[in-house]
Amino acid sequence: MQRISPKVSLTPAVTLSPTLAADALVNQLRDEGREIYHMGFGQAPFPAPSRLITAVREHAHEKAYLPVAGLPELRTAVAKHQHRLLGTDVDGVDVLVAPGSKLIIYALQMTVAGDLLLPTPSWVSYAPQAAMLGQNVIPVSASLSQNGFSLSANELEQTILRSRKAGQNPTKLLINYPSNPTGLTIPVDCMQEIAQVCIKHNICIIADEIYGRLTFNGGYRSISEFAPDHTVVTTGLSKHLSLGGWRLGVGIIPKAIEGLFDALSGVASETWSCVAAPIQIAAIDAYAGHDDIETFITDSTAIHTAVTQFVAGELRRSGIACFDAQGGFYVWPDFNALAANAKNNQPVTSEDLAKQLITQEGIVVLPGTAFGEAPNQLLLRLSTCDYDGAEALDYYRAHKNEFDISHVSQFAPRVSNATQGFKALVENWQ
Ligand SMILES: Cc1ncc(COP(=O)(O)O)c(C=O)c1O
Repeated sequence: MQRISPKVSLTPAVTLSPTLAADALVNQLRDEGREIYHMGFGQAPFPAPSRLITAVREHAHEKAYLPVAGLPELRTAVAKHQHRLLGTDVDGVDVLVAPGSKLIIYALQMTVAGDLLLPTPSWVSYAPQAAMLGQNVIPVSASLSQNGFSLSANELEQTILRSRKAGQNPTKLLINYPSNPTGLTIPVDCMQEIAQVCIKHNICIIADEIYGRLTFNGGYRSISEFAPDHTVVTTGLSKHLSLGGWRLGVGIIPKAIEGLFDALSGVASETWSCVAAPIQIAAIDAYAGHDDIETFITDSTAIHTAVTQFVAGELRRSGIACFDAQGGFYVWPDFNALAANAKNNQPVTSEDLAKQLITQEGIVVLPGTAFGEAPNQLLLRLSTCDYDGAEALDYYRAHKNEFDISHVSQFAPRVSNATQGFKALVENWQ
C-alpha cells in the first residue's frame, strides 16, 4: 500500500475540486432522469469561434514539442494585446504559455517564496493549491457592494504588518476580478490603493484576470496599470472565448521581478513541457485583434450581462439579496437576512441551503464554503450558463437592436425556470 501525501489527502478540496464534483453530480442526476438546472459549473457556453477551429484543423498535423515558454509569435501577440487594451509596456514583460492559467497560478504559488495574502471569498482552487505546496494562507477581508469587490488598503497594510510581527512572511497577494464567485470587479480607485500598499511592502500581486475581457460596460482594467513592476497577470482563452477545454493560459510576468520568468520556465520544463502546437497556433489568432473575434467577445459579453442581470433581478424580486454582476457569469446571492426572518425550514449552513436546492428544486449550486466562507454564512455561487450558447448567440445577433433582459427567458428558459425554483424555495421558509 502506498501512502498518500497528507498535503493532498488532508486538503478536503484536493480530492475533487468542488466545481468538478458539482458537474459529476449533475450528470448522475440527469442520468437518473431528473430535470436538473445546472448552476454549479463555470463553463462558458458559446461555440468555439470558427476562425480558431479552422486554425486548429489546418495545423492538426503539427506534433512537435514547442519551446517551453510558448511559441514566440504567440507570446508577442499576447504582449501586444495587453498593450492595445491596457497600455502595458510590451518590452517590460515576458509571457509564459501554459495548459490553463490554473497551472500558472500554481507555478506562481510554488515559485514566489512566502505566505499568500488571500481575500475572502475567493476562487475554489487558490487555497487548496497553497495547501498542496505546504504554504500558509493569510486571509484578507473584502467588502462587497454594488460598487464592487473592495479591499481596504489600510486593512491590507495592517494585515501585512500584523502577520510579519507574528512571524509570518506575506510576500504575495492573489486577487481576481471580475471575481469568481461574486461577479463583482475591483473598483479602479481601490486597485490604485492596493497597488500602493503592495509597492510599499514589496508584495508580488498575482492578478487573475481570466474574466477581464468579460467586464461589462467595456471596462477591462488591470492593477498592472498601477503596479507594473509588482504584478503578474494571469489570463487565457477559457472564459471570453469559451475555450476552457483547449487548455491555453498565459502569464504576463514583469521583467522587474528578477528571476521569476526563468524560474517559472524551469517549473514548466519539468512538468507540462508545452501546450499542444495546434492550440498555440490558433491562439495567435485569438490575440491578434481580428474583427470577428472581437465581435464574438462583445456579443458574448452582452449576453452574459443580460443573463446575470436577469438572474440577480429575479432573485431580488423573491426577497433574496443579490448584487448585479459587473463581469463574468456568476452571481453571489446572500440569504442571511431572509433566513434570519424565516419561520420554517430555513437552512443553517450554505451546504444545507445547497442541499435544499438540489433535492427540492433540482438546482445545483456551489455553497459559500467552497470559496472560503464560514459554514453559517448563507451564500451561494450561481453560474448563469445553463443554456445553449450557439442558440443564444444567434438569438442575440438577430435581436441586437432591441436586446435586453426581457429576452433572456427566450434563449435561456432553463435559467429562467431555475429563478422560479429559488422563489419556490424561499416561499417554503415563510
Ligand atoms: C477565477 C478563475 N481563475 C482561473 C480559472 C482557471 O482557468 P484556466 O482554464 O485558464 O485554467 C478559473 C476557471 O474556472 C477561474 O474561475
